[in-house]
Amino acid sequence: MNGSENSEFKRIQSQANIVEIIGSYVNLESHGKNFFGVCPFHDDHSPSMSVSKEKQIYKCFVCGATGNVFNFIENYLGIPFLEAVKIVADKVGINFTIKKNDQDSKNQKYYDIMNLATLYYQNNLRTKQGEEAREYLHKRGLSDEVIKDFGIGLSLSESDSLYKLLEKKNISKSDMQSLGLIAESERGVYDLFRNRIMFPLFSPTGKVNGYSARIYHGEDASKYINTRETVIFKKRENLYNYHLASQAARKEKFIVICEGQMDAIRVYSVGIKNVVATMGTALAKEQIDLLKKLGVKVIITMDSDNAGELATISIGESLMKEKIDVGIVRLSGKKDPDEYILAYGVEAFRDNLKNPISFPEFMDIVYRKNKNLNNPVELTNYINEMLSMLTNISDDLLTEVTINKLASEFHLDKELLKSRTVTQEKVEELHIDNKKEEIIPSKEKTNNKFNRALMTMLYYMMNSTDCMRLFMHYQLKLPKNRYRLVANNLIYYFELEREIDFADYLTFTESYPEVSEVVKEIIREIHVDEFNEADMEAVLNIVKGALDKEKIKELKEQMKKELDMNRKKRLFEEIINIKKGCVSDGRN
Ligand code: UTP
Ligand code: MN
Repeated sequence: MNGSENSEFKRIQSQANIVEIIGSYVNLESHGKNFFGVCPFHDDHSPSMSVSKEKQIYKCFVCGATGNVFNFIENYLGIPFLEAVKIVADKVGINFTIKKNDQDSKNQKYYDIMNLATLYYQNNLRTKQGEEAREYLHKRGLSDEVIKDFGIGLSLSESDSLYKLLEKKNISKSDMQSLGLIAESERGVYDLFRNRIMFPLFSPTGKVNGYSARIYHGEDASKYINTRETVIFKKRENLYNYHLASQAARKEKFIVICEGQMDAIRVYSVGIKNVVATMGTALAKEQIDLLKKLGVKVIITMDSDNAGELATISIGESLMKEKIDVGIVRLSGKKDPDEYILAYGVEAFRDNLKNPISFPEFMDIVYRKNKNLNNPVELTNYINEMLSMLTNISDDLLTEVTINKLASEFHLDKELLKSRTVTQEKVEELHIDNKKEEIIPSKEKTNNKFNRALMTMLYYMMNSTDCMRLFMHYQLKLPKNRYRLVANNLIYYFELEREIDFADYLTFTESYPEVSEVVKEIIREIHVDEFNEADMEAVLNIVKGALDKEKIKELKEQMKKELDMNRKKRLFEEIINIKKGCVSDGRN
């Protein structure tokens, strides 16, 4: 977003009356300064959402949904931000046209070609040649409606029918090649997908960028072939059905993840819309980020075979490491969620979703398999596996609970087990300082308290020009983390606008997804209504205190290693200066 675009948003917002606009979707009642209504973003009957005319924002005190007028429309109607801006602009009578961003318009040509191909495949399925495929899909219990919802089509058995069609539409061979639709051999150009049922794959924003193609008669060839990496298809960044599932997941507060697209289609079509599929692989960092962004619990329901178990271990561990809440459902009796639902019905499946087990409980089952725990050697192996798993996922509460269970089942000393899950990092933190100073709590706890102070500080900054100024005056050197990202973004906004306008700042962050995500987290977590400088100063001092403590720790380490007496003395003086509250001159 550029400066002029943002001022355009600002103009639209200043003309809009947030109370009136939200009031046109949900009933609002006035109460003091604010208006209240039933929050549409979670299941509720009492008015937990407040709308502030003065601040031009809404906020739900139960589910934490929050934002400005654009965000409300965006989330309520489940549409892209710019379309929400357009709706508000129309309501206040301002002419606003949506400009596509560079990357999108650059790729638009490719998406247009994919759309042509998809329409072509879909049409094939409706023709005489599609009869057998249609029958196959119906036999698998996919209705015409589901076929339409998921854009399913058919590639024909001729060697180059798609190529010919696209050629007629003046699409270049090299574009078709770049999209992984055709290939060339000594015998000429041929379609890569032939005689297969075509499942379009969608980007997280819902654009077709590839296909997964299934055989439907005979079992000779590989079951599915998928689009390779192309100009617009990046496997690491796709999760099957994410574009349809994300909204529902936020509402339901969880998302189901399964292995195959057929599973996702089945689960979705029986009414559980918050479902995605990995498409049979481990999760890449980018895919984990997509899930993390939702801020909800992830319920893993992989196939009930060996491969599914391995996938559950890998995905579960990756998610746990990212501090994402994980639940695991093990379906028994059938191979995968698709077959399970067909055999036992959706209610039985729902019951399973309601009773997931934790990741440690799942690993406990895995590690116990094929072991005789009456044998001391095998028992020791098992305990070691459990402890190392707990250390790896570093979740304090789950570690505690699991260790208590292990200790009582096998009559082992709790403290001994616990000491084995302490990471080297934590050990260092505990012993680094000398005895007379208080023991530094584990990194985790420091971080929580410190992060909370940072969040509060940022919340003040985004709500008050005076608090923003005070922050600039302090010139803190924040650690390189997501909160610094927000601080820098706020400084940038402040430099452009010269004043802080909370609702407008929320619009501004729309161009910076990583920032916007943290900002939303802060608004959910921090509840402050008045913003005065004295309180801001108190928060700043907490932050500064923690930063100083870190710096001192670092300097002490350096001092320990330093052999040159003069430099040692300088480091010592620097520590003293920080302790006295003087600003360090940064020499070291
Ligand atoms: P599955 O073999 O579990 O397939 O592979 P499925 O989802 O149950 O499919 P149906 O029910 O037989 O139609 C899980 C996922 O792994 C990928 C696909 O994305 C599939 O959905 N896969 C599987 C491939 O990419 N290629 C293959 O040959 C097989
Ligand atoms: Mn299946």
